[in-house]
Amino acid sequence: MDMRMIREKLAEAGQDHLLQFWGELSEAEQAELNLQLQSMDFQELSSFFQNAMKMSGHIKEEKIDEKMEPVPREALGSVTRDRDMLKGWEEEGLLHISQNKVAVLLLAGGQGTRLGVSYPKGIYDVDLPSHKTLFQIQAERILKLERLAEERHKVKSTIPWYIMASGRTMESTKQFFAQRNYFGLKKENVVFFQQGMLPAMDFNGKLILEEKGKISMAPDGNGGLYRALGAQKIIDNMEGRGIKYIHVYCVDNILVKVADPTFIGFCVKKGGDCGAKVVEKTNPTEPVGVVCKVEGKYQVVEYSEISLATAEKRSSDGRLMFSAGNIANHFFTLSFLKDIVQIHEPRLQHHVAQKKIQHVDSQGQLIKPVKPNGIKMEKFVFDIFQFAKTFVVYEVLREDEFSPLKNADSQDGKDNPTTARHALMSLHHRWVLTAGGHFVDENGTKIPAIPSLKDVTDMPIKCEISPLVSYAGEGLEKIVSGQVFCPPLVIDETGIHQLVKNGL
Ligand code: UD1
Repeated sequence: MDMRMIREKLAEAGQDHLLQFWGELSEAEQAELNLQLQSMDFQELSSFFQNAMKMSGHIKEEKIDEKMEPVPREALGSVTRDRDMLKGWEEEGLLHISQNKVAVLLLAGGQGTRLGVSYPKGIYDVDLPSHKTLFQIQAERILKLERLAEERHKVKSTIPWYIMASGRTMESTKQFFAQRNYFGLKKENVVFFQQGMLPAMDFNGKLILEEKGKISMAPDGNGGLYRALGAQKIIDNMEGRGIKYIHVYCVDNILVKVADPTFIGFCVKKGGDCGAKVVEKTNPTEPVGVVCKVEGKYQVVEYSEISLATAEKRSSDGRLMFSAGNIANHFFTLSFLKDIVQIHEPRLQHHVAQKKIQHVDSQGQLIKPVKPNGIKMEKFVFDIFQFAKTFVVYEVLREDEFSPLKNADSQDGKDNPTTARHALMSLHHRWVLTAGGHFVDENGTKIPAIPSLKDVTDMPIKCEISPLVSYAGEGLEKIVSGQVFCPPLVIDETGIHQLVKNGL
């Protein structure tokens, strides 16, 4: 497209300020900006903006709280309340895995702003004894599950791993996987695809220049998944492989049970086309969305959208009324996803997030705003729950399955590298105890399984078990039963690494 056409296109869209510094740009910068401008459909952007602003105004006025209803018991499965069903659900899940019908899909296009790193979150090392990254832990869980399904059903199984990255995270993510040889997975079973980006806008819908020759862009939210699934032909790829069920999850949860057979089995047995894994929200101000019904349809009401009074409401048993805390672990059938991509996606509205957006002002000065000066538009992965024919919810234990990495370490902080590391080590400590192992301190004194109050410190016992040894605590008896360990204890495929003292 030549410059004259671009100028016309911009003038028509009321965006001609984007060329204000054109004359000052180098040839390379001009080419770059030209490319950005050519790729934009200003009519579409303007309608996204209008609708998103309308919807956000609507939400503020509407008081969603009054229409919220908790998840009914019949849609709910629970690891604590349905203990006698768990084995059957797990069997069902493993069967589908062994038939190569299950895929996992990782949402990894976020920018990790709160964590404050410039690289993809999955590369983060929370300082475990093994120094494994989040990506490696997840990859090894997939490998182990393939092996478990194979052992159970005597056929080779594959769980393809679809990884959604954004323009900002794609190259470094791919490079990391290639350098680490895909962590032992087959390269052809790790499929990367890219989500879209949208420009940041001021409150009047004008695009923002982050540099004189560069428009400020951000990923279009984790609900950008659905557009990308169609545009990048991922649905076709899944169909070609015979996939029927997909587990979608976020990169930041160190305890995530990737392709969890029990969750998958539960959803399939319940006839769900769409499902969510939740943990019980126990603190009204915890920053997790809650799964609930609004006007008869399932949705997640985000922590930013619920009033304190509603968040604090309690049922007769004393539990929070809206306690189904969303941990961003979702189940979809492929046919449900196909309908979303083909029919519903274009009708999903963007959510508006007001942000402080760095920009150049009309004098060409770089401004770092102290209060929000514009918006970013995002779709959310759970925006499609409303289209489910049979929606199911599976409640799991927080200490077993949810410890997200959101923030950088700070004193008494939450959801940070220290809390993630402690959560994993404390889970693995419990696995060893359950399998009949014991721990002693450096003086040989037995460490009580439940520490007495005076022993309570912030430090859990250092204990890490490779996912290649155990996916969810299974198979450890033969390794640890009757053994006494002095932490730190690391168990991996090469053996037990620490001081082992035989017999109690
Ligand atoms: C998310 C959930 C929230 C839940 C919480 C639990 C959404 C919209 N919200 O909130 O309900 O209680 O996790 O931890 O899911 N991502 C992309 N592309 C993007 C933006 C994000 O792939 O454009 C990915 C991130 O890489 C991450 C995931 O989505 O894996 C969640 O993003 P994040 O911004 O951390 O969501 P939260 O606000 O923490």
